[in-house]
Amino acid sequence: MSARGNFSSRIGFILAAAGSAVGLGNIWKFPFEVADGGGAAFVLIYLIFAFILCFPVMVTEVAIGRKTEKNPIGAFNALGFKKWNIIGKFGILCGVLILSFYNVVAGWAFGYFLEMIMGNFGIGEAFGSFTSDIVKVSAYAIVFMFTTAYIVSKGVSGGIEKLAKILMPTLIIMILSLVAYSFTLPNAIEGVKYYLVPDLSKLTNVNTIGGALRQAFFSLSLGMGALITYGSYLSKKENIVSSSAMITLFDVGIAFIAGLMMFPLVAYNLGGEMSNVQGGAGLIFVTLPGVFETLGGTLGVIVGGFFFLLLSFAALTSTVSLLEVPVSYVVDEYKMKRTKAVIIMSAIIFIIGLPSLVGNGYSEFFSNAFKLPGGSTDFMTLVGYITDVLLMFGGFLIVTFAAYVWKKENLAEEISQGYPGFNDSIIKKLLNFCISYLCPVVLALLFVVVVFNNFFGINLLG
Ligand code: PHE
Repeated sequence: MSARGNFSSRIGFILAAAGSAVGLGNIWKFPFEVADGGGAAFVLIYLIFAFILCFPVMVTEVAIGRKTEKNPIGAFNALGFKKWNIIGKFGILCGVLILSFYNVVAGWAFGYFLEMIMGNFGIGEAFGSFTSDIVKVSAYAIVFMFTTAYIVSKGVSGGIEKLAKILMPTLIIMILSLVAYSFTLPNAIEGVKYYLVPDLSKLTNVNTIGGALRQAFFSLSLGMGALITYGSYLSKKENIVSSSAMITLFDVGIAFIAGLMMFPLVAYNLGGEMSNVQGGAGLIFVTLPGVFETLGGTLGVIVGGFFFLLLSFAALTSTVSLLEVPVSYVVDEYKMKRTKAVIIMSAIIFIIGLPSLVGNGYSEFFSNAFKLPGGSTDFMTLVGYITDVLLMFGGFLIVTFAAYVWKKENLAEEISQGYPGFNDSIIKKLLNFCISYLCPVVLALLFVVVVFNNFFGINLLG
């Protein structure tokens, strides 16, 4: 195992996996998905899905990774089910696609950090011209990909784990201070109400349910083998169930707190008129600079700079995990040197990301020619929707594989290492029920519902 690298401690693994999970998905995507998905009803369903549908998938992924000590394709081969390595193939493809656009948005976050410290608060209204400024956004995306590549090239404990150990605690402190601050603003309470008091009529809405599941998979980095990969570096001494529980709590907790920070800021900006909330990818980029401006010169620069630095940090621990997946594959299977693998993979992914880079204003074609029923027309949103459904489908296949092909006893045996009481525990019964029945059935049904809704505009929930 040491030739591939491994996490040096339990907390190192937890922080790295939580670092993968906590990212733009929590701070950029979650609030606007909440706004698009109908406020607090979405939050409620998201929480339920995270614990009953996603958590079992996470435990399964980590167990498969740790059992085989392999990348997501090699893992299925090593278990003796070569045909099922299609899960890993889709997973790696999905990771590459996610990173290709994720890196672009991460670049924006970093660019906004620079704009804030220069006191350019007008950037919020100029978001469209910012994303069309091809020289700037390319430069930021290159810087971001380069930083990601550098860290991954340093290896598992020397790069990924070290970064997470520094950035994750920093992130928590930063986000809590911003929550405290946002609560002091006028109209904050309107934002909190919007966020936390559910409109029950929305609970059965297809956008609410489908969006919450997509968001839960994306945010927890599930369904594409990121956690198979991280699990492959985990020591046999560690308890997979409790570690996964901590990662889930961490991620859900940060998303929840990010909402608590965001909606008071939005409410403040809208003068408390929450019916005017506009979701979409621009939510934080358009709204927040104006909020920071009203704080006045120096304070605005500090709080604004702080916020976008936080966002960049959160993104970095996720981009690192996304790059690690294809890198681990070529390192394991082609015995390629890590550094070489990193250079090749990051270059390929950057190139695949070019349509997303130019598809936010610069190129007419990539910004407008890719229509979805929801109304968006740009290439990046389309790729995001495709990868979202791939993640859900991947999650479905992973639990189905574990329950019916690899078999529950083998899964249990792996989990028992580091958790001796597992076989006699109620947790085992619950987990088996989830991976054998609940997850496959619900994930398959919702997958179909989401595909019809998002790609064909057909609402199967009536
Ligand atoms: N979970 C990350 C986020 O919330 C994104 C991600 C998805 C990372 C899938 C790895 C794998 O930002």
